[in-house]
Amino acid sequence: MTTLGLLLMFAFNFKDIHTYGNVDEVRTTHLSLELALDFDKKVITGSTTATLKYAKDKVDHVDLDTDGLTISSIKDAKGNSYRYELGKKTGYMGTRLRVFLNGKKPEKLTIKYTTDPGAEAVQWLGPEKTTSGKYPFLFTQSQSIFARTWIPCMDSPGVRVTYDAVVKVPKGITPVMSAEHGKHDKAKGIYRFKLDKAIPPYLIALAAGELAFKEIGPRTGVYAEPAVVEKAAWEFADMEKMVIAAEKGFGEYRWGRWDAIVLPPSFPFGGMENPLLTFATPTLIAGDRSLVSVMAHELAHSWTGNLVTNATWADFWLNEGYTTYLERRLVEMIYGADIATMQKILGQGDLRGSIADFNKQNLPGDTILHVDLKGRHPDDGMTDIPYEKGANMLLMLETHFGRKDFDAYLNTYFDTYAFQSITTEEGLAFMKKELFKGDDALWKKLKIQEWVYNEGLPANLVIPKSDKFKITSAAAKTFAKTGDLKVVNKDWITVEWLDFLNALPQKVDADKLAALEKAHNLNKVGNSEILFAWQMVAIRNTYKPALQSVEDFLSRMGRRKFLKPLYQALHDNPKTRDFGAKVYKKVRNTYHPISFNTIDKIYPQ
Ligand code: BES
Ligand code: ZN
Repeated sequence: MTTLGLLLMFAFNFKDIHTYGNVDEVRTTHLSLELALDFDKKVITGSTTATLKYAKDKVDHVDLDTDGLTISSIKDAKGNSYRYELGKKTGYMGTRLRVFLNGKKPEKLTIKYTTDPGAEAVQWLGPEKTTSGKYPFLFTQSQSIFARTWIPCMDSPGVRVTYDAVVKVPKGITPVMSAEHGKHDKAKGIYRFKLDKAIPPYLIALAAGELAFKEIGPRTGVYAEPAVVEKAAWEFADMEKMVIAAEKGFGEYRWGRWDAIVLPPSFPFGGMENPLLTFATPTLIAGDRSLVSVMAHELAHSWTGNLVTNATWADFWLNEGYTTYLERRLVEMIYGADIATMQKILGQGDLRGSIADFNKQNLPGDTILHVDLKGRHPDDGMTDIPYEKGANMLLMLETHFGRKDFDAYLNTYFDTYAFQSITTEEGLAFMKKELFKGDDALWKKLKIQEWVYNEGLPANLVIPKSDKFKITSAAAKTFAKTGDLKVVNKDWITVEWLDFLNALPQKVDADKLAALEKAHNLNKVGNSEILFAWQMVAIRNTYKPALQSVEDFLSRMGRRKFLKPLYQALHDNPKTRDFGAKVYKKVRNTYHPISFNTIDKIYPQ
């Protein structure tokens, strides 16, 4: 690394309160992983070799983040051992690992360790939880601060690393990572990966199981269990088109390939933007490609999030707000303006709902884009606010400046900050200079400070209109009043159903719900988003004939976005509270730690 590079690396002074790393003195720049997967013991054993760059002449120690790791040795490249000390485990922060350098400045430190079977990033699934039932499965989810539960590292999005890995697996298991494939020795179960682009540690990802692969285009393809791969490839057939559209709008795709892996149903998210390899929930497989905007979202992260990354978790809206905005631009390019507009409107509905909820809970501070996470887990900031308020601010800017200028700004933003992590302040300073050309009066007029640092919704929000939603919203009112099923159209597409169901009043009579359910078979609908929206209506109205379907849904998938509101609704309604508790008790152990830790707050165990 050049002196300039080193200077740049340490130049930006921001404090990430969610890492123990002494990042002002020393930084990790590369991680070399050697990992063996033990499915019987549910542990990963191996080593991480961290390459270090020092900012000062004298550095006493290196502090790394760990959580639940059992360390057996720490050595430099020559084999010298280093004294180390594990601090006290402090809640979600995990345990500080301090390595004393003893006057030396080793370029590399190799840490040998074993993970804990309860590591939060890792879910181990027995064969019975896979479709074939023949092999176990494992996947990791490191965002936001769970990388430390399987890799000792400076677990901050502001500390970027390249990485390589050697992964040893039992017979029949194929591992994949968020990286390029190296030379595999399949007979020996040894697989190699390498990523020479610097990423934040939360993007290091591993999945392993009985995997098949199906190509979609020259740069795209899907991994999944053999029984799922055909359906998955059909559902995600537009992946190649998405990359082409994205490059047209946002500039070169800089990661090489874009593959996806469809994970078992316990995957706690819709999608996760692991570089080169998006992780996806099988609940996206609707059979009609209607939920692939999640894939567009994860692809968009290849620009916003993975290329330009939030420096701290308080800046999370730089990742998700920009990405949600780009997602809808992609949807517009591929599926048309009509659908994109309807998705914007649904998003705005979610946003208004969230703001109302936060105000009701007396947490108006959580409606601020640049959120205060002091004393809290970064995942507490994973709400509709960074996604939807962020996207709406960008939509407002697009509307004011016009697409030509706004897109030019976006493209320079990506070029300027490629492979860097930035704070909200830096992002705004750049915006003011490049997009506003320094115009203070306009900056005030467009209320940028208010958008980013104030509660609630600024008055210059842009409200998109859809003729199709006029029909569905009106249908909801008519149907709730009269029970007239003729206003409900069986040919509605997914977004229209969602608008209709969301627009139903709080109270709907049981006989009307019964008629609606019967006419459209809602308890059995295969589309997970529609099923979810229906179940929310059913629960708040204590519509008993839907409860079996709620139990089935809660038992067959672990996506937190669905689980949390469903359990919350079951709990909020005194007539369904015990039912929710009973279901949760039965299926809690099938959920990923990230999901059950969230639901435990609703139904304490
Ligand atoms: N990066 C997020 C998922 C995430 C955020 C995981 C914070 C852990 C902490 C991902 O890109 C995402 O937003 N997924 C959404 C889908 C999207 C279309 C809104 C999801 O999983 O529902
Ligand atoms: Zn996202």
